Amino acid sequence: MAKKYLIETYGCQMNIHDSERMAGLLEQAGYESTADDMDADVIVINTCSVREKAEEKLFTRLGEIQHRGIKSGSRPVVAVTGCVAQQEGSRILQRSSAVDVVIGTQNIKRLPMLVDDAVQHHSTTSRRGAVLELDPLEDVSFPLGIAKRHDPHKAFVTIIEGCNEFCAFCVVPYTRGKERMRGAAEIVGDAENAVADGAKEIQLLGQIVNHYKAPDDPSCDFAALLERLDAIEGLQRIRFASPHPRHVTPRMIDSMRRLPKVCRHLHLPVQSGSTSTLRAMRRRHTRAEYLELVARLREAMPDIALSTDIIVGFPGETPADFEETLSLAEAVRYHSMFSFKYSPRPNTLALKRMFDDVSEEEKTRRIVELQALQKRIQGELFAASIGRVEPVLIDSRSRRREWELSGRTSGNTVVNLSGDPVWIGQVLPVRITEANPNSLRGEAVTAFMKAEI
Ligand code: SAH
Ligand code: SF4
Ligand code: F3S
Repeated sequence: MAKKYLIETYGCQMNIHDSERMAGLLEQAGYESTADDMDADVIVINTCSVREKAEEKLFTRLGEIQHRGIKSGSRPVVAVTGCVAQQEGSRILQRSSAVDVVIGTQNIKRLPMLVDDAVQHHSTTSRRGAVLELDPLEDVSFPLGIAKRHDPHKAFVTIIEGCNEFCAFCVVPYTRGKERMRGAAEIVGDAENAVADGAKEIQLLGQIVNHYKAPDDPSCDFAALLERLDAIEGLQRIRFASPHPRHVTPRMIDSMRRLPKVCRHLHLPVQSGSTSTLRAMRRRHTRAEYLELVARLREAMPDIALSTDIIVGFPGETPADFEETLSLAEAVRYHSMFSFKYSPRPNTLALKRMFDDVSEEEKTRRIVELQALQKRIQGELFAASIGRVEPVLIDSRSRRREWELSGRTSGNTVVNLSGDPVWIGQVLPVRITEANPNSLRGEAVTAFMKAEI
């Protein structure tokens, strides 16, 4: 009987896509997926270490798995992958005897081999040999058609691995390694492959997607890559995350404006509205430069929706610096925002050289104030969209009610509507009728569609 695997994923889209790749690799090696951890012979935990809480989840989960083994008398093979694996390496094997294999972020292609090995030597009661594989593989190519995509309509396509930016707060350059570009031909092939499999949207992934330069074609930068992808027949939408503000070029803005498949949405992490905090963060742009960029984007694409990431309570952030973050959010009017309380991360400049001097209570006060402001702005933007007709990619049905569908606008806002499940996977014009705090409600507009219901 085939051995069964379960992958649990924490963290960003990059990790979700790595899990899709690992699932594909394991299936190619003969494993079958299961959703039940009591039934799994192999459990892969794909981890994130971007903030303290994300990291602690691994050890909580390992404790549960170990307990499960003790209760049932049989333990699964456990592999830890992802950013905590790269960062902590052998310390994970020391801290938890539930773990058999630790694989770094740049070695996932080796997963089936290492897991097979562990399965061979596996004892149902204790760990026999533990495997640690952290050496980076330079080669970022990945065979097409292997990844087991979790969403049939939207496909992740990695374009860059790693990051050389070294923002002072961020662990990613240490966990994901140095920046490595994937070949343009392979990226286009991956996207074509996904479209042939039915995907309507591709989402390009990388820590700084707009830093892209094709290793196999010196003339292909990020703008040119968008152009090539836009030409894929059958593809309807292109998204990407995250661009860095300092690498947004006029060429990139022009491509976004001209290319019909590129969504009218830009996730443009700002982190802080204060130039002095931005300098301490090593973000290499000022408040004024960011606001000027937003103005240029809006001039080229008046309907573009912007979203962002913000950190509150970075070392040295004064109440006046925080006020500047509030006033920047007020000035930009983001459609959505992810906000975080600063937490010191291993290896980073902020941990080594700066003092985490904003108290936990003050961080909480700041994030609550920022989120209240964002809620008001988002509410106003959502209310203003009532009555508009927007193209919506219908991507799922409600778990609670049949004939209840959900999709996203080009600006990336969730729209719920009543409709026929056969619409899933199509882009349809939807009139917005109602604004809720985190989503919109609408109705499909064509008479034909209505008759179908
Ligand atoms: N590559 C992306 C960000 C990846 S991490 C970029 O350059 O924008 C995602 C977000 O987590 C960051 O944008 C930041 O807002 C947040 N983050 C990263 N490190 C953090 C830390 N030490 N404390 C709190 N938030 C952090
Ligand atoms: Fe982290 Fe900065 Fe790189 Fe983004 S650009 S991954 S925030 S170091
Ligand atoms: Fe987390 Fe690693 Fe992504 S730290 S956010 S999983 S790159």
